[in-house]
Amino acid sequence: MTAALNVVVLAAGMGKRMRSRLPKVLHPLAGRPLLEHVIEAARALKPGRICVVYGHGGETVPRAIQGADLVFALQEPQRGTGHAVQQALPELAPDAATLVLYGDVPLVRPETLTSLIEASGDGLGVLTVALEDPTGYGRILRDREGRITGIVEDKDASPAQRAVREVNTGIMLLPAARAARWLGALKNDNAQGEYYLTDVIGLALGDAVPVKGFQCGSEWEALGVNSKAQLAQLERIFQRRQAELLLAQGVTLADPARIDVRGSLSAGDDVRIDVSCVFEGSVRLGNDVSIGANCVLSNVTVADGTEILPFCHIDGAEIGARCRMGPFSRIRPGARLGDEVHIGNFVEVKASELGHGSKANHLAYVGDSVIGSNVNIGAGTITCNFDGAYKHRTVIEDEVHIGSDVQLVAPVTVGRGATVGAGTTVWRDVPPGGLVLNSKDQVHRPQWQRPRKKQP
Ligand code: UD1
Ligand code: MG
Repeated sequence: MTAALNVVVLAAGMGKRMRSRLPKVLHPLAGRPLLEHVIEAARALKPGRICVVYGHGGETVPRAIQGADLVFALQEPQRGTGHAVQQALPELAPDAATLVLYGDVPLVRPETLTSLIEASGDGLGVLTVALEDPTGYGRILRDREGRITGIVEDKDASPAQRAVREVNTGIMLLPAARAARWLGALKNDNAQGEYYLTDVIGLALGDAVPVKGFQCGSEWEALGVNSKAQLAQLERIFQRRQAELLLAQGVTLADPARIDVRGSLSAGDDVRIDVSCVFEGSVRLGNDVSIGANCVLSNVTVADGTEILPFCHIDGAEIGARCRMGPFSRIRPGARLGDEVHIGNFVEVKASELGHGSKANHLAYVGDSVIGSNVNIGAGTITCNFDGAYKHRTVIEDEVHIGSDVQLVAPVTVGRGATVGAGTTVWRDVPPGGLVLNSKDQVHRPQWQRPRKKQP
């Protein structure tokens, strides 16, 4: 939009009511720090500068938030919102307008910010919202003609002023070239002994700079996080909106109130998602994918027609087309499953490739392995990939049949088409074809008695 825009994000406050050692702005909403949501909205405006004012929690804030386009200004001690913006001044272009955002107001949409900027013109812009319960917020004061004359903080307000329902969201646009003087002129003679940013309104009116209010249509955009209860409330609002976007794209959700997307979820046509699934990071689902109840998918791609049954945990994996997973499968990073692979209950796959049509249907561990196509892995089979110091690879070629309860002691290769008998410990390479098994006898003792408890 405009290169001539500074954005300042206020993130120095303490957040006492969160009752946490983590700085408030780093608490996650949909898996990402509150502050990152605000920075994302700021970036959408393509500003010339984004300056984050930090203080409480010290360097943990700049360390947690990445971005070559960000600069940080330290506010120490924290003497109020006006004082906070003042600390950012050296980082800002003086001839550009400055948009002030709050690190703890994470849901504000770029469209709303653009409307505020447009409504403000060359004046001072204030984003306001009408709240059912305005307790705690600064109230917007207007004259008979409806012009904004000031903002009074809840703690400084008279009973009549407290009755006003239109409040300051805190988001404000300061016109170019004025900020330094106004911020320098703020006083702290108020109930909290702080330098209030909101007092620039009086200074603007004194300089005959117009003050423009833009009222935000949706209450949720202006909601701030001050407590864990509010954080939980905003999380639900965010998730509900994402669910509605997925429904609008044609995804079938068993219950839009019971899905959590903590990152990005893209879905093809005719995708079905049952209740209580969590999607983290980047998840891509092809056409006709179905996800059963209570699955967690993190950074996963799933190709067309694959069915994931309930209670699967899949992390860092690529799943082919027409696969069947679960229930209760655990797929770990580096797993790459070809098409028509079946992974069943209590099977763990890590850093392994499985070729077309291969199956491990029950109780198995497959780690650091390359498995060809049409391989069957029997129940209870494990790849013994760890010697206590190093990890080793297991290679199982196409068409191999591994019986139940087999241990494959890596590094080891089982040649194409071989069959491994049940209960075999494979510690040497198996040539292609034929059967391999460990020689052991079955002993029968007909007269043997189980121990019995003595009768008293
Ligand atoms: C502020 C506004 C109030 C508005 C409300 C909206 C002022 C004086 N009041 O009040 O009109 O209705 O927000 O939520 O501006 N911060 C700093 N440094 C400081 C103080 C605060 O960076 O010294 C940051 C906080 O981290 C937070 C934001 O500024 O992101 C708001 O601070 P907070 O103390 O919550 O202000 P409120 O009293 O809620
Ligand atoms: Mg606040």
